Amino acid sequence: MTYFSWNDDLKVGNSFIDSDHQKLINLVNQLHDAMAQGHGKEILGKILSELIRYTQEHFKREEDHMQRIRYAGYASHKQEHDKLIREVVELQNKFNAGNGMLSVQVSSFLRNWLVNHIMKVDKDLAFAIKQVA
Ligand SMILES: [Fe+2]
Repeated sequence: MTYFSWNDDLKVGNSFIDSDHQKLINLVNQLHDAMAQGHGKEILGKILSELIRYTQEHFKREEDHMQRIRYAGYASHKQEHDKLIREVVELQNKFNAGNGMLSVQVSSFLRNWLVNHIMKVDKDLAFAIKQVA
């Protein structure tokens, strides 16, 4: 069974944001499955790096778009992005230093974060994008 399934409730109705989110969900699933299957540090580390890299890329796409439309919610939206990146990079540093294990708490944290962020903050953004389109 898929750990984190994409569903219509998560759709914000903007094609680049929705397709980025599907890819992010896919990466959270990969991380979860690799942990559940007991994969070693090397594989987990690779998936975690890819997840962080893609998240940064996706956040940048959203932020660039917000600036392009002079979005009023830019600062607070970016703050949520920055905070998440800080937390995940800290986790990665601990993991790389060998004093932090990745556990299913990591995938559930990421899943919850994404669902909450998409349902409110990204939906607000997609709505604003539609208004200026
Ligand atoms: Fe966002």
